[in-house]
Amino acid sequence: MDRNARVEPGPPVDQNALKRAAARAALEEVVDGAIVGVGSGSTVELFIEELHGGAARPAGAVSSSERSSQRLRAAGIEVYDLNRVLAEGRRLPVYIDGADEIDGALHMIKGGGAALTREKIVAAACERFVCIVDASKCVARLGRFPLPVEVIPMARELVAARLRALGGRPLLRDGVVTDNGNHILDVVGLDIDDPAALESEIDHWPGVVTVGLFARKGADVVIIASAQGIERRAASGARA
Ligand code: A5P
Repeated sequence: MDRNARVEPGPPVDQNALKRAAARAALEEVVDGAIVGVGSGSTVELFIEELHGGAARPAGAVSSSERSSQRLRAAGIEVYDLNRVLAEGRRLPVYIDGADEIDGALHMIKGGGAALTREKIVAAACERFVCIVDASKCVARLGRFPLPVEVIPMARELVAARLRALGGRPLLRDGVVTDNGNHILDVVGLDIDDPAALESEIDHWPGVVTVGLFARKGADVVIIASAQGIERRAASGARA
């Protein structure tokens, strides 16, 4: 091969277009007449746009953040209170949300938008978690993205010290107060060998509200948009 030959770069990847493609592909997951669980973040906001005026006809949504609730209402989609929905025994067949990272076992890091606690609550209430991402979110091993941990403000230093003892380097997310009135520590340097075990450990510390590992209950399906098109991967035992 000519060592001076230039490799022409491919066409630039429009990440926003990929996010929209994943969001659009998730429309077929929405069950007509049922309430859909809706996450948070830029990919989900595109999903809400696609839902607006699309063919899917959900009865409404339960939402994982104030911001998503506003977007849903602006799109003419009724936002239901989760407690009321569950008290009435209504089904929540599907939850649609993005991720900051997702691995081959469909374990995720979430919380880049600081909505991790409500995301985990709504995801737990829904029967099926459909994750929508562009291919840049797919990793072989979780941990390149700083791990968000939502903490009660008075416990911030206590939790930070414990994270340091695990080898992590926690940094307070400046100026951010979550929808629940709490703070976020973003942690780099942790060895996430066993995401479910680490999730269980950190979740049990006093002052931790939620750790942004979604591994004990990961996604059931991930819809990945790349320049090559749409790919669906199902967790073992889940319907594709
Ligand atoms: C919000 O707290 C997060 O969990 C989001 O789901 C995650 O950050 C993905 O966001 P984007 O769709 O904006 O990348």
